[in-house]
Formats: sequence, structure tokens, C-alpha cells
Amino acid sequence: MSSYVTRKTPGDTAWFTHDRFGMFIHWGLYSMPARHEWIKNFECIPEEKYDKYFKYFNPDLYDPREWARMAKAAGMKYAVFTSKHHEGFCMWDSQFTDYKCTNTPAGRDLLREFVDAFRAEGLRVGFYYSLIDWHHPEFPIDKNHPRRNDPDAYEQSKDRDMKVYAQYMRDQVTELLTNYGKIDILWFDFSYPRNNGTGDQAWMRGKGKDDWESEKLIALARSLQPGIMIDNRADIEQDLWTPEQYQPQEWMRHEKTGELVTWEACQTFSGSWGYHRDEQTWKSPEMLIRMLAGTVSLGGNLLMNVGPTSRGYLDRRAQEALGVFADWMRVNSRSIYGCTMAEPEFSAPPDCRLTQSADGKRLYVHLFAYPFLHLHMPGLGGKVDYAQFLHDGSEVLFTEGTMETYGDAPRAGGADLLILHLPPVKPDCLVPVIELFLK
Ligand code: GLC
Repeated sequence: MSSYVTRKTPGDTAWFTHDRFGMFIHWGLYSMPARHEWIKNFECIPEEKYDKYFKYFNPDLYDPREWARMAKAAGMKYAVFTSKHHEGFCMWDSQFTDYKCTNTPAGRDLLREFVDAFRAEGLRVGFYYSLIDWHHPEFPIDKNHPRRNDPDAYEQSKDRDMKVYAQYMRDQVTELLTNYGKIDILWFDFSYPRNNGTGDQAWMRGKGKDDWESEKLIALARSLQPGIMIDNRADIEQDLWTPEQYQPQEWMRHEKTGELVTWEACQTFSGSWGYHRDEQTWKSPEMLIRMLAGTVSLGGNLLMNVGPTSRGYLDRRAQEALGVFADWMRVNSRSIYGCTMAEPEFSAPPDCRLTQSADGKRLYVHLFAYPFLHLHMPGLGGKVDYAQFLHDGSEVLFTEGTMETYGDAPRAGGADLLILHLPPVKPDCLVPVIELFLK
């Protein structure tokens, strides 16, 4: 059994740390400008201009069953969908606002179709819900708000009542957690209590748990969906640590107690979360697989994002990137599901990452670079019963202790040295994995 113990939290994390790999979906009006989901903020777009997107939002090619099939083929086991992003637009038929998809040419509850389709493919369902709201009339203007540079920003903002907005969030979260069956994850985003205005903008205060009334909000969510996992971004620590756009270098720990925590890296294919037509910084296939294996080798999950187009489909680049995962996971998922960081007694050779099955019986060596003929693994001599490539189940021969040499005297490597004998040509697999059955 794995010896790693993570900090206990209220939500059910057992399925999560088994499944390891999920799909993030950022979809909203911002898929129309197609130049970042923060576009309303970046370009300080006024309401009446942003309304164009509302007026013309028509995802006529939306077929979430297709998304679900692609997610499943990629090996993803759950999906987190943006019910509302910072722009404030609701992707479901909320009774508490008119700013929702049912009032656009889309004319239907897009969230419900997502939920039904993903469940039908056997995937778990989570909701992203933005705490930030750049549309709600009671949301006070702050440093992140599109109206921050208006000469009359103070006048616009001074009578806004955060309490009304906090109640709005509770009402919406009630809808989301009541009307869509079992929801496994609630992904709040995000708090910035220290991002305050300065000078004559000193009244622009950042927002955190007191503004969101996070305690109430979270208690409400837990009462409606016992067992739900909640992230840490409502400014109160919950179940999930969420490193974003960087890969942790070690298993994340609790800031105060030092305990290991449940963590999930969230990553994009190309940089932005919403559909970005012109972005060219798409990650290479190899990098994608390395990020997944690297994450699990440190005891974490990976939530990989897609940004569907405003027509409602995943563009070719996104499909290809998902296909990279599909090809690799079809034959290598055993090193991911139910796996975690290898026991501390095992150390990875250069350019390799290790994962180990939670029952401790199998150890997986991910070859990030392909070595010439021999892979040396000190500490494993005498411990391996059988070795094979995972992708094709072909035997990998090994010797222990001594490294045979031609001409020179044999070199003793120590009885605990395991030497795996590899073919000279890298097998046809992006990141080959060697599966070691331990004695
Ligand atoms: C950030 C961004 C956001 C994105 C999120 C995903 O906080 O505000 O656009 O949804 O990260 O983790």
C-alpha cells in the first residue's frame, strides 16, 4: 500500500485521486471575440459593445455528446464546465438573471445538455462558477473590473451592494446543485483580497471571503451535495489545491502543517482558456504526455482545458491535442489510473518519472528521454519479478548487480542495481513506459 497520507478534508476525494485526469471546459460569450476569456477586462469593453456577443451567440453545432466521447477517448474521467465565467453570462437557465444562454439565439440550457451527455459516457461532472462577475449591477468595481478606468467609476460603483451579489451567488449555486443531479466538483474562481487600489483608486478594494460570504456559500453547497469536492479559491481552504499554468516540482503541501494535500494542476493547450483563434503557442504532443505523467508522479491530478468555438465544436487543434492523449492513454493508462508518487525508496533515473500503483505492486518508469540500451535503477535489484513495456506488453529483459562490459572487466554495480535492457530503437510510443511487477 502507498505510504502517502494526504490531509483530510470534508469532500470525497477517493474517486478523484484514483481517476487523475479530467477535462476543463471554458465556454461562454468570450468564445466569439475569440481572443481570451478576459477580453472584457483587457479591452475595457463597455456593456453595450459586449452585448453584441449576447445578441449573436448561436452555437448551432453544439453536440456535447461528441465532446464527451472525445474526453472519454482521451482517458479523461471527469469534466468541469464553466457555468458562469467572469463576464457573468450564465450557461444555464437561471431564474435569477436574464443574462443567460436561453435568452440568446442558443435558446436552450447548454449546461443541462453538457451534464446529460457527459454522464451518459460515464464521466463525472463538475461546475466551475466564477465568483467574479463583470455584468452584475451590484458587483463593485475593482482593479480587475472592465470599468476601472472610467472617469466616473466611483460614481458608478459607490452604491453597489455586495450583499445583494453574495445572495445572488447563493441562489445560483442552489440552482446548480439542485437541478442537475449529483455534482462531484464545485470550482469557485477566484479571490484577490490583497489587490487593492491605490491613490485616488483606494476605494477599489480586492475581494475575498468576507465579500463572497464564502462560509455561507460553502456550507450551502455542502448541504445540497454532501461529498462534493470544492476548490480553495473562495479564500477558504477546502478540498482542492489548484496550481494553474505551472507544474509543481513536488507533491504540494499544506502551507502551515506541511501535510500532503490533494492537488490538481489546471493547464491549457495554448495559453488562454477560452477559444483563442490566433494563439500559436500550442503545446507539443510530447509535452502534453509529460505533463500528465509528471503530475501523477507527484501525486496530483491534471485538468486539461478545451475552449470550444462559439459555433459549439472543438476546433481541429483541440481535437488533435485530445487525440494525443487518446493514443497514449489507450495503451498506457495503467500507469495513471489508481497510481501515485512512487515510494520514497525508489528514485527515478535521469529523464524518467515514476508512478506506482496504490497497492504498491507495480512501478512505472516513464521514459521522457530514450536511453541507449541500458536503464540503470539502483535500489531495485532483487525486487522485480517481471518487466515489460506497458504499451505492447513485450518483455523487457533485465539483469541485476553487475553491468557486463565488452573488453573491460565487468563493473560491479552493487547487488541492488537493476539494469533494464532496452531495444536500440525507441518503440513507437510518444513516451514509453516500462511496467515493473514487484516481488
Ligand atoms: C484564472 C482565470 C481564468 C480561468 C482560471 C482557470 O483564474 O481568471 O480565466 O478560468 O484561472 O484556472
